[in-house]
Amino acid sequence: MYRFEGLALALALFSAATPAAPVWHGLGQPLHAEEISSWDIDVRPDGVGLPAGHGSVAEGQAVYDAQCAGCHGTFGESTDYLALAGGVGTLGTSSPQRTVGSKLDYATTLWDYINRAMPFNRSKALSPNEVYAVTAYVLNLNDIIPADARLDQHSLPKVEMPNRKGFTQQHGMMRVDGKPDVQNTLCMKKCAPAPVKLTSQLPAGFATQLYGDLEGHFRRFNGSAPAVAISLSPAALAASHGCLVCHAPQQSKLGPAFVDVARRYAHTAEATTLLRDKIRHGGSGVWGNAAMPAQTAVPDQDLAQILAWILSAAPTP
Ligand code: HEC
Ligand code: HEC
Repeated sequence: MYRFEGLALALALFSAATPAAPVWHGLGQPLHAEEISSWDIDVRPDGVGLPAGHGSVAEGQAVYDAQCAGCHGTFGESTDYLALAGGVGTLGTSSPQRTVGSKLDYATTLWDYINRAMPFNRSKALSPNEVYAVTAYVLNLNDIIPADARLDQHSLPKVEMPNRKGFTQQHGMMRVDGKPDVQNTLCMKKCAPAPVKLTSQLPAGFATQLYGDLEGHFRRFNGSAPAVAISLSPAALAASHGCLVCHAPQQSKLGPAFVDVARRYAHTAEATTLLRDKIRHGGSGVWGNAAMPAQTAVPDQDLAQILAWILSAAPTP
């Protein structure tokens, strides 16, 4: 406390002696309109910020089946990541199910999120029309708009979300022993004896590896060419195609560790062809009950490189 008061006094003296002229004179430069617009990407509840464009539920289904269903489930039901549909009306109950359908207060937020962040492994690759379409489809999966609906920058802000008036900030994103993660009161008595030891609960490298090919995410909006030319290693290729969401080189996640795959197929003739077909078509049963969704979007060339890399991890017999 004492030290803080000293600091505050020093600051007060300092500002009394300093003229009112701008302190940071000569630093920085005026921004061009394009620089500002490249940051000005938010979409507001009233629709300000939405680009021109449109998309129907039917068009959205095509986008969804090709680019989203593998992770979120055919009907948005998958809880491997986050379910996108269901739970409407459950928020006030003892087992609330929070999905974008049940929890969001504005449909524009859904548009904004998908536009910025999805698909997870190739964010910002969708065109505005594709984002309108897939937003329409997700809203239709939640029975919020009819199957023949078509959304554009005028109709999207008018969609009334079921939780329009129920939005609260009384809970955190994750539940920790029944408590929200972001709300707590300072402990003023019977506190743990100092010094409190801070520990990390995340394995080393978790945060840096979770999002895979970070460089690739710096793609510009609307699917235009990446800002920088990128030549990816096989590991980064695997990350950029979403493989590392379910696999890791050394540990098993939802899918087997690549080193185990390499070990298992080290002496199988035609391992490359066999595994390529499995990855293309997806399936389950070899390693357990979890299924690998069909990986149809990976170009042949990339898949060949990734497979060579996986199989090269086989230990020499
Ligand atoms: C590779 C797997 C993957 C793919 C493909 C994918 N997602 Fe996601 N999605 C995720 C993950 C993981 C999260 C959670 C992200 C986080 O919390 O940082 C998420 C979150 C979301 C959310 C927010 C859910 C919530 O409750 O807040 C929406 C909406 C969404 N995705 C829509 C889509 C759409 C639409 C597509 C297709 C264009 C798509 N996703 C493709 C993995 C994926
Ligand atoms: C949504 C999660 C998920 C994603 C994304 C995913 N996989 Fe898988 N993968 C699995 C699961 C689960 C299995 C186990 C399937 C089984 O038991 O038959 C698997 C199995 C495999 C196998 C072993 C197949 C076999 O029959 O032994 C290989 C190789 C593989 N994946 C490579 C890849 C590659 C490369 C990618 C990216 C292009 C990828 N996976 C993306 C979940 C995923």
